[in-house]
Amino acid sequence: MKKIIAFAAGALLASATGIALAQAQHSEQDAKTLAKDVCSACHGPEGHSISPVFPRLAGQQRGYIIVQLDAFRNKTRGDPNAQAYMWGMASQLSDAMIKALATYYVGQAVGLMNAEQSARSVVYDFMRDYADAVERLSGTLAE
Ligand code: HEC
Repeated sequence: MKKIIAFAAGALLASATGIALAQAQHSEQDAKTLAKDVCSACHGPEGHSISPVFPRLAGQQRGYIIVQLDAFRNKTRGDPNAQAYMWGMASQLSDAMIKALATYYVGQAVGLMNAEQSARSVVYDFMRDYADAVERLSGTLAE
């Protein structure tokens, strides 16, 4: 009888571990899909944002991402952009998904933008500098 119980307990443990592993893999894949389909709309492909409004996530520290997503979810990080963009987003995320997303972004190499992205960011910087210059100029002319 003892042997049967030990065997049953072992089998249960093995299947529980199997389930946990399957879930871990599952959320890793889900995180990748979510990052590509949703987060990238603002944070750029693989988290390589080229916008000053949307922070870069690629290569960010894992712990930092987890803390921030948690803070958006708890509404303790509440500046206007956090409220407008991230509160709703984070409210949909489970702890496991937050961790999996953080793992995904930490794994995206920093500074490895492809040629198209870096060209776009050069153009973007130029346009911003240009807009600033025009603004300064019109300010000067108005004086
Ligand atoms: C509609 C645009 C939008 C989408 C989609 C979006 N975010 Fe954000 N996210 C923002 C903005 C804007 C901020 C900066 C908020 C602020 O200024 O406090 C931000 C901030 C963050 C931060 C904090 C970064 C830092 O440097 O402090 C993390 C982490 C983050 N987002 C993760 C995600 C993840 C993961 C997803 C997908 C599930 C996602 N975001 C989807 C707009 C977005």
